[in-house]
Amino acid sequence: MIIAIDGPAASGKGTIGKRLAAHYGLRHLDTGLLYRAVGKSVLDAGKTPDDRKAAIAAAQSLDLTRFDEATLKGAEAGEAASHVSAIPEVRAALVNYQRAFAAEKPGAVLDGRDIGTVICPDADVKIFVTAAPEVRATRRGNEYRAAGKAVDDATVLADIRKRDERDSSRAASPLRQADDAVLLDTTAMGVEEAVAAAIRIVEARRRG
Ligand code: CDP
Ligand code: CDP
Repeated sequence: MIIAIDGPAASGKGTIGKRLAAHYGLRHLDTGLLYRAVGKSVLDAGKTPDDRKAAIAAAQSLDLTRFDEATLKGAEAGEAASHVSAIPEVRAALVNYQRAFAAEKPGAVLDGRDIGTVICPDADVKIFVTAAPEVRATRRGNEYRAAGKAVDDATVLADIRKRDERDSSRAASPLRQADDAVLLDTTAMGVEEAVAAAIRIVEARRRG
C-alpha cells in the first residue's frame, strides 16, 4: 500500500504520515526534509537559495546523513527549501529516490507537496491535509517555542503564507490537491482526532 499525503506548511502532514505508517506497518518519508537539506547545503556553501547552479549541484550530490533533523526543521532551512524546490532540475534530481522509497515492500507513506500529483500518481490512498493558516502558524510556533526558540505567531504566519504562495504558484510540481485526493481539514481537530480521521479515509478507500 502506498499512501500519499500533501498539504500546505505545518498542516500536520508529517504527524499524520508517521502515525499512519506505524498503524499500517509501512515506512514513512517526509519529503520536505529532502528539499530542506538541499536548501541548507546551499546556505552552508555560502550561496543564496536562488543560486540555480549551487542548488542543482547540492540536489545531485545530496547526502542526508550530513544533517540533523532539528536543523532541517528550522525556519531558515524551510525558507531556503521553498526557493530551491522551484528549480525543475532540483526536483528532477530527487524524484528517483522518492519513487524507489515508495516502491519498496511492504509500501510506504510519503508526505510533501507533489506526492499525489507527481511522485506517486497511482498511490492507493491520497489525502490532502489542510488547516486555517492562523491555526497552522500557532502549531508551528508552539514547536519552535518547545525547541527553545523565541518566535511570535504573527512572524510564523507571515512566513507560512509566503511559502504557501511560492509553493502554489511555481510552474514545477506546484502544491495542488490531486483530483482523486480526499480533503482533510484539521482546523478544529487535535492530533488524535486528525489521525483517526485519516485512518477512516484509508479504510474507506480500501473497502471501496
Ligand atoms: O513542514 P512544512 O510543511 O513546513 O515544510 P516541508 O514539508 O518540510 O517542506 C519545506 C519546503 O520544501 C516546502 O515549502 C516546499 O517548498 C518544499 N517541498 C516541495 O516542494 N515538495 C515536496 N514534496 C516537499 C517539500
Ligand atoms: O508536516 P507538517 O509541516 O505539515 O506538520 P507537522 O510537523 O506534522 O505538524 C505541525 C505541528 O502541529 C505538530 O507539532 C503537531 O503536533 C501539531 N498538530 C497537528 O499536527 N495536527 C493537529 N490536528 C493538531 C496539531
